[in-house]
Amino acid sequence: MEQNLAFSLAGQTALITGAGLGIGKACALHMARQGARVVIADKDPQRLAETGTLLAEDGRQALALTCDVTDEAAVTSLFAEAQEKGFTPDILVNNVGGGRSGRIWDMDVDDWDHTMRLSLRSMFLCTRAALPAMMDQKYGRIICLSSGARNGTVWNAFHTGACAYSTAKAGVIGFVRDLAIELADHAITINAVAPGPIDTELAGPYLRKMHEDGLEYSPIRMVPLHRLGTPEEVANAVSFLASPEASYITGSTLDVAGGR
Ligand SMILES: NC(=O)c1ccc[n+]([C@@H]2O[C@H](COP(=O)([O-])OP(=O)(O)OC[C@H]3O[C@@H](n4cnc5c(N)ncnc54)[C@H](O)[C@@H]3O)[C@@H](O)[C@H]2O)c1
Repeated sequence: MEQNLAFSLAGQTALITGAGLGIGKACALHMARQGARVVIADKDPQRLAETGTLLAEDGRQALALTCDVTDEAAVTSLFAEAQEKGFTPDILVNNVGGGRSGRIWDMDVDDWDHTMRLSLRSMFLCTRAALPAMMDQKYGRIICLSSGARNGTVWNAFHTGACAYSTAKAGVIGFVRDLAIELADHAITINAVAPGPIDTELAGPYLRKMHEDGLEYSPIRMVPLHRLGTPEEVANAVSFLASPEASYITGSTLDVAGGR
């Protein structure tokens, strides 16, 4: 897909969590093409290396760091190493999220906690680690990945149960709304992007199969545009909110959800 390069990120550094696949990978490639130096972080070194290769083939400046962003000590080291290597982030994309589906009456506490850790604990830890440098320079852009699921994911709820995931993604909105006020005096903006069903390496086949199997509540049936979104379409929205041009937008949620 032809990408919109209208918003320049030249001279800025962006740290993207979960950049080994899907939306995070698309954000890293898009922001790098807009001129940002990127720090790509992922717990999977193999996936990270693949994104690193794509960035290198594209001639972009990138630093790849393996990190489990739910681990406090690992996040502290991630930001310290990025800073040491001259990659202090002006932009943070809290992209890691996901979790385990299940009917609430069957759900183990571990599955519930895992889902909260992945979306909420990672977002808290990375934002807290990124803020001191942003506050010093009185500039920063933070973008957090929520989901259409913040209002309930009809297809997941109906077919598998997705209460934990929807709860976590609603939590992202509370985080962004409150923090926008806390950070306003520091000229740091924080916003959420809420994708609908996106054709990523992991989610895409599952989302398409619901349609192929003729399930009543399939995303392709229920989304007004009647197709899955692409990771690049989400990256376009993230990159806009990361740009200097988005200076009067904070505490907002931008849906990239095909009309749903
Ligand atoms: N794909 C969709 O349809 C969709 C829809 C709405 C919202 N979202 C949200 O968008 C974000 C990205 O989704 P995606 O489908 O591209 O992600 P994904 O599940 O494909 O994973 C992206 C990357 O995150 C990495 N990762 C997982 N746990 C990690 C951890 N603890 N520390 C570091 N890295 C970790 C994985 O290794 C992987 O490379 C998530 O927050 C997701 O909830 C996705």
